[in-house]
Amino acid sequence: MNPVQNIQSDRNQARRLKDSNADVCFLALADANGKASVRTLVLRDINDNRFTLFINKTSPKWQAFTDGTGHELLIWYASVQRQYRISGSIQELEAGIVKSNWLRRPTGSKYLDYVYEELGNQSSIIDSRDILTDKINQLKKDLDAQSMQSPPMVAGIELIADRIDVLDLNNQDRIHDRRLYTYDGGTWTSRVLIP
Ligand SMILES: Cc1cc2nc3c(=O)[nH]c(=O)nc-3n(C[C@H](O)[C@H](O)[C@H](O)COP(=O)(O)O)c2cc1C
Repeated sequence: MNPVQNIQSDRNQARRLKDSNADVCFLALADANGKASVRTLVLRDINDNRFTLFINKTSPKWQAFTDGTGHELLIWYASVQRQYRISGSIQELEAGIVKSNWLRRPTGSKYLDYVYEELGNQSSIIDSRDILTDKINQLKKDLDAQSMQSPPMVAGIELIADRIDVLDLNNQDRIHDRRLYTYDGGTWTSRVLIP
């Protein structure tokens, strides 16, 4: 069985069932000091073993990716009662794909991406929210949203999965089904885990 196909069909079902997690995932990272952090991200395309995310390189998460200090993606669809924990290598998306995707971002998000270039890194501390809103107002005056292009620090990444831990809570007796899928030589192999 291919666990990625399972994720895709669960995701489609989660969308039909209006699951609020249908289009998101949770990305855990460790930094060079071993400090863990986790955040919600929109999960874009899932193609073959590739899970696409859009982030900003000014965020500390980019450093964690480039340092290779550890990452794992988690998907939980309450509507279908399955959790997926996904790991694998990280690859940056081609600039052309990032640019064309960026044009479809909501206007507010586009201005925020400019804020990261001009005011400060994503997740950095500022003295007040007014500094942020003043900057946004100034950008809105200076730049027409329709003609904005993706700034250089916008990035897309693909997590190329080679390990997926699936926890299925659909057994009535609470003896959950848990399997570890590993990808090697073009095929997925599954082993049963104690849940
Ligand atoms: C529903 C939802 C979707 C989000 N999608 C993204 C996203 O696609 N990309 C992103 O960089 N941050 C996204 N965020 C914000 C992140 O969770 C996080 O706050 C931000 O990226 C800063 O994280 P950092 O500490 O890694 O810099 C989303 C948050 C929520 C609640």
